[in-house]
Amino acid sequence: MENQVLIFDTTLRDGEQSPGASLNVFEKLEIARQLEKLNVDIIEAGFPVSSPTQFEAVKRIAGEVGVIIAALSRAKEIDIKSAYDAIKNASKKRIHTFSSTSDYHIIGKFGHERYGNSLAEKRKTVLQMSYDMVKYAKTFVDDVEFSAEDAGRTDIVYLAEVIEAAIEAGATTVNIPDTTGYTMPSEFGNKIVELKKRVKNINNAIISVHCHNDLGLAVANSLAGVENGARQVECTINGIGERAGNASLEEFVMALNVRKDLYKYFTNIDTTEIFNTSRMVSAFTGVIVQPNKAIVGENAFAHESGIHQDGMLKNRETYEIMTPETVGVNKTKIVLGRHSGRHGLKSRLEELGYNLKEEELQKVYDAFTKLADKKKEVFDDDLRVLMGDEVFQEQGAYELLTIQVNAGTNSIPTATVVIKNKEVQYTDSATGDGPVDALFNAIDRALNFQPAVESYQVRSVTSGREALGEVLVRIRYKDNSFTGRGVSTDIIEASAKAYLQAINHQELFIIEQNSITQNETVTQAV
Ligand code: KIV
Ligand code: ZN
Repeated sequence: MENQVLIFDTTLRDGEQSPGASLNVFEKLEIARQLEKLNVDIIEAGFPVSSPTQFEAVKRIAGEVGVIIAALSRAKEIDIKSAYDAIKNASKKRIHTFSSTSDYHIIGKFGHERYGNSLAEKRKTVLQMSYDMVKYAKTFVDDVEFSAEDAGRTDIVYLAEVIEAAIEAGATTVNIPDTTGYTMPSEFGNKIVELKKRVKNINNAIISVHCHNDLGLAVANSLAGVENGARQVECTINGIGERAGNASLEEFVMALNVRKDLYKYFTNIDTTEIFNTSRMVSAFTGVIVQPNKAIVGENAFAHESGIHQDGMLKNRETYEIMTPETVGVNKTKIVLGRHSGRHGLKSRLEELGYNLKEEELQKVYDAFTKLADKKKEVFDDDLRVLMGDEVFQEQGAYELLTIQVNAGTNSIPTATVVIKNKEVQYTDSATGDGPVDALFNAIDRALNFQPAVESYQVRSVTSGREALGEVLVRIRYKDNSFTGRGVSTDIIEASAKAYLQAINHQELFIIEQNSITQNETVTQAV
């Protein structure tokens, strides 16, 4: 299988580090099941030591999904042990451990003199630590991946030494991340060539690449990596991830697929599952896919100009290098309505990739019938956001019971809210400079709390005046941001739901922080 490229999907780990994207355990599990259908080879399910919720999500996925489940850990015993504990029930498991190897990272993260006084000494410490921690991970599992963080900016001589040590310690995959998205394709490809020359045991491990998209080159760099010997590519659905994101799975896979004439490499991906996976990830994370996004954007297969339309009618290949069907875009839109029954809803949801238990189906059916009463036609995208909003939401500490908002021209916007927390009810009213502001002020007064609102976005899920409105709110608490999402045909109600959900996420975070007994802080931004 020397031409097979393994797809390591990190949507649930690096992807979840996208600003504003946060997924609960149920959503992660559902995405993991869909990734299994997509036929990815490895799912990086999370970073277990970073929080109890992360740990729980990885553990649930490990217990229920059949592909290789990887868990991330820094090169520290506590992380590696936690990663193992989270994946130990997986039928196929991998520990993925990493050290920072560029001088920027070594100076920034290992500044303390206990790591050495000079840069040379600190480099030695990192090398030894990488070796020791791969060895430690091997005491738990056979399949160990080692990443040299910021390899893109790491001196090649030192990078080769670290990679060689990691393989000697037993790493079966060595990952070369362009963590800051700094390199150019020819340069990145050359790095792989150099490593193959300099690392004497390189044939004992699979070379992997993990490229970020800061200069829009993540997919190009991944392709360059593969052309020069990498056989694993780390990527995410819709290219989500830290900052400008990671290499997009769908773009990388379709590049190999469409340009078979040029590339001899193949993946195991079932490309017809790409569109459903993309939409599921977008609906659950709230990270909207730009319309002109390659492969999965709304306009990826739209032909606007007369000349293009004419050409398409005569011969599709005039302007189309792949058919929409290849990536699972179905041109005929199936619409459900108030007369659609449970069975119709269930089979449509299954076609969209959701596998529901009986009680989950009942919940979504109840929400669907309410929506179908307000809106004549219920589209696939409506169902996707309903799934996120109704079926996979955990009950937070605060529950919205009532909102009442008055606003209009030449009047003072006023809102009253009733919120419940366990048996206690909080009621308050406030004014504001618009109905949403009044609403948020009333919630703040009721809960005696005033988070900073970092962002507020509203969008219509589908077209038409009866469309569902989706609101995304991001609030800030100390150094952390929390996102909430609310959906309703009434955008004021959607705003209240989103704001309260963000507050609930913040509450959960505070509880988790208090319960973490480890006396060191875990930096999730890797
Ligand atoms: O970007 C990066 O370097 C990472 C590593 C942890 C693989 O995400
Ligand atoms: Zn990354």
